[in-house]
Amino acid sequence: MSQHSIIDELVFFVNGRKVREQNADPETMLLPYLRRTLRLTGTKYGCGGGGCGACTVMISKYNALEKKIIHFSVNACLTPLCMLYGAAVTTVEGIGSTRTRIHPVQERIAKAHGSQCGFCTPGMVMSMYTLLRNNPNPSTAQLQQSLAGNLCRCTGYRPIVDAFRTFCTASTCCQQGGRGTSCPLEKAEQDGSSTQTIVGDQDVCSQLFKADDFLPLDDTQELIFPPELMLMEEKLAKRTLVFRGERVMWIVPANLEELLEMKSQYPKAPLLVGNTNIGPNIKFKGAFHPVMIHPTYVSELNSVQIMDEGLRLGAACSLSRMKDVLVKAIAEIATEKTEIFQALLKQLCVLGGEQIRNMASLGGNIVSGSPTSDLNPILAATNCILEVVSRERRREIHLDENFFVGFGKTALMPEEVLLSILIPYSRKWQLVSVFRQATRRENAFSIVNSGMQVVFKEETRVIAELRMFFGGVGPTTVCAKRCCKELIDRSWDEDLLSQACELLLEEISFPSSAPGGSVEFRRTLTISFFYKFYLQVRQRLQQLLNKEDLFAADILQRHRSAMSPLLVELPRGLQKFQPVTWDQLQEDPVGQPVAHLSAIKHATGEAIYCDDIPNQEGELFLALVTSSRAHAKIVSIDAGEALKLPGVVDIITVQDVPGKNKVEMLFDMEEIFCSSEVTCVGHIICGIVAKNQVCAKMAAAVVKIIYEDLEPVILTLEDAIQHKSFFGHRKLENGNVDAAFEKVDQQLEGQIHIGGQEHFYMETHSVLVIPKGEDGEIEIICSIQHPKNAQDSLFSTLCVGERRGHADQWGSSSIRRQIQDNFGSSSERLEVTLSLRGISSTAGSRRLRRMCVRIFPAMDVGYMTDGRIIAVELTCYCNGGNELDASLEILELALLNMDSGYYIPHVRLTGFACKTNLPSNTAFRAFGQPQAIAITESWVTDVASKCNLSAEKVREINLYRGKESCTLYKTIFDSRNQLRCWNECLESASYHSRKIAVEEFNKLNRWKKRGISVVPLKKTVGFSIPFLNQAGALLQVYVDGSVLLTHGGTEMGQGLHTKILQIASHELKIPMSAIHLNETSTATVPNTSPTAASFSTDLNGMAVKAACQTLLQRLEPFMHDNPKGTWKDWVKEAFMNKVSLSTTGFFKGEDLFVDWEKGEGNATSYFIFGASCSEVEIDCLTGDHRNIRTDIIIDAGNSINPAVDIGQIEGAFSQGLGLFTMEELKYSPKGVLYTRGPSQYKIPAVCDIPEQLNVSLLSGSKNPKAIYSSKGVGESAVLAGSSVLYAIKDAITAARRETGLTGNFTLNSPSTPEQIRMACVDRFTEMVPVSAPESTPWAINV
Ligand SMILES: Cc1cc2nc3c(=O)[nH]c(=O)nc-3n(C[C@H](O)[C@H](O)[C@H](O)COP(=O)(O)OP(=O)(O)OC[C@H]3O[C@@H](n4cnc5c(N)ncnc54)[C@H](O)[C@@H]3O)c2cc1C
Ligand code: FES
Ligand code: FES
Repeated sequence: MSQHSIIDELVFFVNGRKVREQNADPETMLLPYLRRTLRLTGTKYGCGGGGCGACTVMISKYNALEKKIIHFSVNACLTPLCMLYGAAVTTVEGIGSTRTRIHPVQERIAKAHGSQCGFCTPGMVMSMYTLLRNNPNPSTAQLQQSLAGNLCRCTGYRPIVDAFRTFCTASTCCQQGGRGTSCPLEKAEQDGSSTQTIVGDQDVCSQLFKADDFLPLDDTQELIFPPELMLMEEKLAKRTLVFRGERVMWIVPANLEELLEMKSQYPKAPLLVGNTNIGPNIKFKGAFHPVMIHPTYVSELNSVQIMDEGLRLGAACSLSRMKDVLVKAIAEIATEKTEIFQALLKQLCVLGGEQIRNMASLGGNIVSGSPTSDLNPILAATNCILEVVSRERRREIHLDENFFVGFGKTALMPEEVLLSILIPYSRKWQLVSVFRQATRRENAFSIVNSGMQVVFKEETRVIAELRMFFGGVGPTTVCAKRCCKELIDRSWDEDLLSQACELLLEEISFPSSAPGGSVEFRRTLTISFFYKFYLQVRQRLQQLLNKEDLFAADILQRHRSAMSPLLVELPRGLQKFQPVTWDQLQEDPVGQPVAHLSAIKHATGEAIYCDDIPNQEGELFLALVTSSRAHAKIVSIDAGEALKLPGVVDIITVQDVPGKNKVEMLFDMEEIFCSSEVTCVGHIICGIVAKNQVCAKMAAAVVKIIYEDLEPVILTLEDAIQHKSFFGHRKLENGNVDAAFEKVDQQLEGQIHIGGQEHFYMETHSVLVIPKGEDGEIEIICSIQHPKNAQDSLFSTLCVGERRGHADQWGSSSIRRQIQDNFGSSSERLEVTLSLRGISSTAGSRRLRRMCVRIFPAMDVGYMTDGRIIAVELTCYCNGGNELDASLEILELALLNMDSGYYIPHVRLTGFACKTNLPSNTAFRAFGQPQAIAITESWVTDVASKCNLSAEKVREINLYRGKESCTLYKTIFDSRNQLRCWNECLESASYHSRKIAVEEFNKLNRWKKRGISVVPLKKTVGFSIPFLNQAGALLQVYVDGSVLLTHGGTEMGQGLHTKILQIASHELKIPMSAIHLNETSTATVPNTSPTAASFSTDLNGMAVKAACQTLLQRLEPFMHDNPKGTWKDWVKEAFMNKVSLSTTGFFKGEDLFVDWEKGEGNATSYFIFGASCSEVEIDCLTGDHRNIRTDIIIDAGNSINPAVDIGQIEGAFSQGLGLFTMEELKYSPKGVLYTRGPSQYKIPAVCDIPEQLNVSLLSGSKNPKAIYSSKGVGESAVLAGSSVLYAIKDAITAARRETGLTGNFTLNSPSTPEQIRMACVDRFTEMVPVSAPESTPWAINV
């Protein structure tokens, strides 16, 4: 085509402004264009692969045919710029700002406490905004769908949902109120706020925000669609567009004829429609396409036709459009004809998130040929017909087993285009079903899915045709052909079920080395799905035959539970806290649910994170070359080819480190570049510095490393134990264990594996190192929890400290006010990144994947038959990886907290931190304490079952009691609030009555089981390393009365700065708005302690208080002389009298310590107590589960900010939920982590939060050890996630009883669908043979 020499101008609009790009590069995505070129940094970069929703923006297009403007949300990271021709993009900055007007969506999420670190907030805002642009009064179901593609790691979603629910009309009552009684949740919803004061109870309040003064939604204020784009669409004839970048050409053919021409000219060029398959392949798998064809103008590809045989959908129809079309068809067409449509709709509702469905096309899903496609099995099972065209011919082919010819490959010829898909109507004797089980219910690829169709001979139960296709069981969508064939002419009865299962197992079989692993689980799913299908069909046959057919009528009521889906609803709940006393001044913010200081800026996208800082002139980029071997000697590094590439500046190796090639960890030093030997896959070998990121990455990829493999390669705990590969060990003993074991009634032994967890902070670790030039000064801007260590590490690496001495250090590290909580990882881990950046003096960000340790204890428990636990001996091993990092500290905390909430008179605990050839593990929120509670509760549950007592009875018997309780390490503490929490939790959760209801439910349902569990929580606070318990603050008052405050803590979304401001305002008696908090910087407050251990308000709050009090003392004479004066008067007077208005505050905390030799000490400043009760429902056939309700009560002392504390509790709980029920790390036998990024690793999404999540702060609790009698609750509720694990175990126990299994069993953590399904032993699990052990399984249990 001659036009290809011409390059078109790309015209589109962003936030109402026209953008004209003369040289639009097809390789550029919208996200970097917004962030770097237009400097619209509100849209965030999270995963870059469509999995997190942080980059959500709205796209609007004008449809000239229908004369309609359509709005839809997309992931900007997967949207090629060239796709935007004629479109209007709206980003978070375009809908409102603090400078103009805040949009109601922004206002509500901010004021309802829906943002913590704020990194996900712009994406959430844009998903909601788009929903409202399409429907100003959405239902809660629509809200649920629109948020499915947005992840949040901090909040636990409940406050986000509460904020957005205020826009919804429909109400779904919790049914708590009962007839005639008002339901508090419903009342709250009607009032427009999520929570309301509970009338009649003076002590408890539940209003975290006021909805009355929310801005109303006013669509006249919205940006209008640019008329110019409408004109462009209506007036201009469609013509071919061509955009050309340095390496890639993008062609938009004007019509079908031209498309086919292009395809014959460039047969290898992909047809890029939604880019949701091509994009991730380019980004993560290195695919490259010099020509790409975008067929947006080809109307045939976008048409929807209602035909006599069925619906014909253009292949480029987006999955959202397909969903809408199906919904309409189902509503309008006789049910009998819409079986296939309903099945497809069921899959579409959970396929990806809303943004993915808006972009991804039906044709793209089919042609991508993914073995886990949710659509292909059902399209194939129902004989859908594909219309395929090329320049030479047009043909129709059936979508069947012959269409998929290999992984990602189909029978389409390279020059062929899939034009449309005919989805037939169903007919009377045709029955269709779909099934899927994924690692997460929404926005997760299926582990196994299936589409099944049976056609009966009329008026009979005899099979005329059977088609079953499965996904996730091979490299392509698999047809169970032989099984289907053998069952033709068979009657649909019990015999058929057994035979079908046997045939399916014979036909669908794969080795344990098959990608994906979990062979027995996947095979069990195939026959479990068939069983569901079998029952569904029997039930339908009964209706169809319309008679009391004997075989159909005998489906036992209990077995019908196999058919009902596990439906989840949006989370909601009550949050209860103690209001401030009546005599507190209204202006005094302490104790009030003040919104996060930066909440509005998070919601408007104005908050600046590290990566939002404009590029520095001359900025260079570093790409790391890392080891591909787990244990090897480096023989040589050859960067010759890399250095020749244009844009490459240099290679950096260990020889280039001017100072120490080590960074300091808590207990050890860690190498930056490995000097001679790599000890894990991913070990840093060298770095390539280049002028841009692409160039640096390309060059790093061609550096040749020659390795010499070394033995042993230790990956698993078993390997480490065998090789005695330990960093160190700890022992804790109390009482006389051996004597106690002699006296106990019974003893039991057990084991549990607790898997690791990825921090999965949405903001990547970011560091900007800016050499200032003058006197060698360096500024470090980074997202770290421990600024002092950042400074120390960089200076020792660069040798700065040695040259100038510590007292005279140059430079500072400052922390952006906005960083995402790193949940423990960046108190240590960021130093490595930082030192690297320092050495190369570059900027950039890197997602560090450091996981929390995996723990594996073996335990021996001595108990009395009345449930008293007398003695525990336990040895636990944690997989520390290749460097010590914080593993020993985690191990210590796990051992110190192994008592959980129970008094155990005799204990002997031993722990080993194992050194393995995996990437080093580090701490996660609550450092080993969540693991401790999971271990303890596992034997508590087992003891209960052995004693024939309920688990809560055994818990209650063994709880610490009284004012003078004694820990394992001989510290006396007052445990009375623990018992209060326990009792209040039992009562507020109506535990006993719900337990009876659970038992009733379980009697009536064979295949769905419910479980309920209540656990006590007890957690330490503070550092047991004495010198860390100190803090400083700097207070500066200006002569106009304004106040500038800095302290040593880092704001990570946890609300520390908000609380600090509340404290300063309370002390100085001036409004919070008069005080400005400066970013944390070692230039203002030196030698900071890590912001960790739930201790930062305690430490820094006290330092700030001290600084305020010093200042007040200085002002006192002027206040005395002028009692009616104002703050400004006193400040001015002090200034005129030459009084310093700059004060520092310092707090020296307690000397916490543990003497491991003696096994005693004072390990905590105080305890956080609590209790958590959870109820779940499991699907015994698939391993799916639904979190029905969780009630958490926490003793937060006198909360400084109940909204912040409750937010921390809910967020921590959702991380605990992830740790214990879904987040699973998988390693290859060579030590490569498979589960990288949101497509592989699943954190809880909105669908995973308990439908009812009630959080209460214990009232009337005082804590003399911390500021204003408060407590640091930041980490405590991670432990509450264990109540869900044990509720699941309770449900599984009920399922096992159905098959006569009443003994104890081990439920490892996380309790994934695989764990649950395989523990629910039944006739189907028994049919699946155990896979023969192979030399190389796909994954290993580390
Ligand atoms: C985060 C995320 C979550 C997802 N979750 C799921 C899920 O749960 N279940 C599921 O089934 N899928 C899921 N997917 C996959 C998604 O559904 C597919 O990637 C999508 O349907 C592909 O459509 P597309 O328009 O984006 O294809 P593109 O990426 O544009 O193209 C994909 C391939 O199809 C070819 N192609 C496209 N249209 C045609 C045509 N008309 N004729 C010939 N060839 C064509 C292209 O040449 C290319 O090779 C997910 C994807 C992402 C990124
Ligand atoms: S950054 Fe785009 S979805 Fe995660
Ligand atoms: S507030 Fe959602 S990720 Fe931090």
